[in-house]
Amino acid sequence: MSEPASLIIANKSVELPVKAGSIGPSVIDIAKLYGQTGMFTYDPGFTSTASCESAITYIDGDEGVLLYRGFPIEQLAEHGDFLETCYLLLFGELPTAAQKADFDYRITRHTMVHEQMMRFFQGFRRDAHPMAVMVASVGALSAFYHDSIDISDPQQRMVASMRMIAKIPTLAAMAYKYSIGQPFIYPQNDLDYTANFLRMCFAVPCEDYKVNPVLSRALDRIFILHADHEQNASTSTVRLAGSSGANPFACIAAGVACLWGPAHGGANEAALKMLQEIGTVDRIPHFIARAKDKNDPFRLMGFGHRVYKNYDPRAKIMQKTTHEVLNELGIKDDPLLDVAIELERIALHDEYFIEKKLYPNIDFYSGITLKAMGFPTSMFTVLFALARTVGWIAQWKEMIEDPSQRIGRPRQLYTGSPRREYVSVNQR
Ligand code: CMC
Repeated sequence: MSEPASLIIANKSVELPVKAGSIGPSVIDIAKLYGQTGMFTYDPGFTSTASCESAITYIDGDEGVLLYRGFPIEQLAEHGDFLETCYLLLFGELPTAAQKADFDYRITRHTMVHEQMMRFFQGFRRDAHPMAVMVASVGALSAFYHDSIDISDPQQRMVASMRMIAKIPTLAAMAYKYSIGQPFIYPQNDLDYTANFLRMCFAVPCEDYKVNPVLSRALDRIFILHADHEQNASTSTVRLAGSSGANPFACIAAGVACLWGPAHGGANEAALKMLQEIGTVDRIPHFIARAKDKNDPFRLMGFGHRVYKNYDPRAKIMQKTTHEVLNELGIKDDPLLDVAIELERIALHDEYFIEKKLYPNIDFYSGITLKAMGFPTSMFTVLFALARTVGWIAQWKEMIEDPSQRIGRPRQLYTGSPRREYVSVNQR
């Protein structure tokens, strides 16, 4: 515990404990502030508020650092694989070879979904957005797997966690297949996690499908980059939903819903649409001017971040991955990539973007890569949800296992009418 902080309110001094983390900013513990002063703190958007203690992910936004359980994202993306990252996020340590083999085996054996889920899918319109299908089908898992919704049982919590990491790729691929009118492809357990997902998306029953190892490795890396990102909007949503004791499938469905928004997981779709709208390099200055115009709501999608005030470390790896994928597919001249590279170059030298510390974020390049792999834009956020599932689960599990956990219940600054008396309708 560090030196307490003092707060003077109406000439009265209040001492507030200061807690230090292992790295990063300390926090002023205001849990007793209301009891001591009768006042709440006010921080809409939570720009100065730590909502919990967590030992999972660390971000230094000024330096552009991202660590999962202490390991730099660059090292995990370069040397690890996604299931190893899942293990690390869930259990806190990298697995031994035996632990990894066991974990991979157990995830693989959970990849099929209840056959009746197929009929559940038939109820959707074919033109439904796959994220709408994901919100519904992930939530619906709680209707199919009753034996893993008792959150007080550690074994059931673990089974639910495994099920979601294993089945959400299957649901994601089904959402895609349904939208294009193709039959669902069952998982194939001799393939690794990401190769299996690619096959479920792109194979058809009438011919053989060979997974391209370069694309599979690139997508696996994209999953690693998206696996967790501390207390972002969707993770905070999962924690808040979970704090009431809701079952894990319902909590993760809440996270999927929150992720859908264009300021969060929907940004990769929005970034690609923007690059398509810009179209050619000569039109970039017009869009830069629009982004700077206070009276124009247009923003450069894929730029800026609430926490990173430096180059998003994930964006650097993503940029490299984009080049690898385009090379592998023999896409030499992608006009979208030309626009992206030039837009990035101009924005990084522009006074407005420098002053506001607006750097490319992970979503800037991911859209180009996923499009080249054959995914339609409507699937981009679904892929993000698939990868983030493990982060949501690790954070949910950490919260449930914290003995001091209570229901999340923010307060407010009330600005509505003071008390007034009811007037019957014929007297209004
Ligand atoms: N283009 C132009 N101006 C921008 C942009 C942008 N992309 N982002 C922020 N600004 C300006 C904004 O107008 C404001 O200017 P001023 O101070 O003059 O009013 C200033 O920068 C600060 O912006 P803010 O909206 O207060 O910042 P925030 O921390 O609330 O928002 C953000 C962060 C990511 C929502 C925002 O930068 C944004 O909308 N970016 C585009 C969407 C995007 O790429 N989102 C993906 C985030 S990364 C993936 C994820 O974690 O989900």
